[in-house]
Amino acid sequence: MTRIIKMKSENLNIELLKEVGAVLADGGLVAFPTETVYGLGANALDDVAVSKIYIAKGRPSDNPLIVHVSEAKAVESLAETISAKARLLMDAFWPGPLTLIFKKKNVVPDGVTGGLDTVAIRMPSHVLAKELIRLSGVPVAAPSANVSGRPSPTKGEHVVQDLAGRVDVIIDGDDCIVGLESTVLDVSGDVPMILRPGGVTKEMLEAVVGAVEIDPAIQAEMDSSVVPKSPGMKYRHYAPDADMLLLNGSPEAILSYIKTVGEKAIGLLLLDETIEFIADDLDMNDYNVKSLGSREDLSEGANRLFDALRSFDAEGCRLILSEAPNESGIGLALYNRMKKACGNQVIKLD
Ligand code: TXA
Ligand code: MG
Repeated sequence: MTRIIKMKSENLNIELLKEVGAVLADGGLVAFPTETVYGLGANALDDVAVSKIYIAKGRPSDNPLIVHVSEAKAVESLAETISAKARLLMDAFWPGPLTLIFKKKNVVPDGVTGGLDTVAIRMPSHVLAKELIRLSGVPVAAPSANVSGRPSPTKGEHVVQDLAGRVDVIIDGDDCIVGLESTVLDVSGDVPMILRPGGVTKEMLEAVVGAVEIDPAIQAEMDSSVVPKSPGMKYRHYAPDADMLLLNGSPEAILSYIKTVGEKAIGLLLLDETIEFIADDLDMNDYNVKSLGSREDLSEGANRLFDALRSFDAEGCRLILSEAPNESGIGLALYNRMKKACGNQVIKLD
């Protein structure tokens, strides 16, 4: 039985949050909102509780979890060393959508780190999340609260869809403001390295600590463009049930491509400027059109992506044609998630 609790940040019920905190401390599983995506939490110091996360999500157990804390001081009991750069970053971006990787202390169980000697830690800015963690009295290991492989949950209803019946408590609260998972930054070496792009961009990090590298694996992933011969064979992450193609090109080229597909009842996930452009030529009522917001502010697209993918599925869409955003700033994180969602089916048009 899953207890579903409706609670918003502006209307916190502290007594109830204490109860839910106790569920966490006692080894239960609790899904809760954060500013990035919903998390599925367990007591990070309890190996058995942590193992239940992997079962509930159907997640491979070698994929390590992020430990969430309610105050920066908590890092000292989890991390072996905290470099000067790490401290600057914590001061600048915590609480917020930045996860830092430290050398771990022995108290952190292997189940949290997938056997690595490092631990990922984040202090969320979301008021409810922070209060819940504080009241639980323990650090909270939490991956995104979706069934493994599905788009990450950015609304309470997404979590209920995926995890009702599989966890102890779901807090059905605010929609997530950022909408993409946190930036993961390795600060265990000299030069910080981005392992997953997110809401805190490379430019923002460099303004605080100077040079920051991007994991070459991300760059390679971003640069590769494959039109798979067998769509059924690809590995997908954040994926809708519908087939999805990422169109990388000008509004003119995207319009031509949509015409060649010529199929009705397909989903179009496009920037506002492109929607405006193609609306002159196509009857938009023939398509299921969703907006990624303006080209000028990709944080809107970041905020909408996962919900749009889930909505296309709920509306019975079988093919989604999506527009590739520019890769600067938060566009890098958005492009990275879209690329995974479509199983790398990027079509270069120009
Ligand atoms: O925004 C977020 O980060 C959300 C919310 C709930 O806080 N959480 C989240 O967790 O996205 P998850 O489990 O979906 O992603 C954790 C990411 C994975 O890419 C994992 O490989 C990486 O963090 N990670 C965790 N520990 C690591 C470590 N010790 N070294 C390298 N990468 C690590
Ligand atoms: Mg995830």
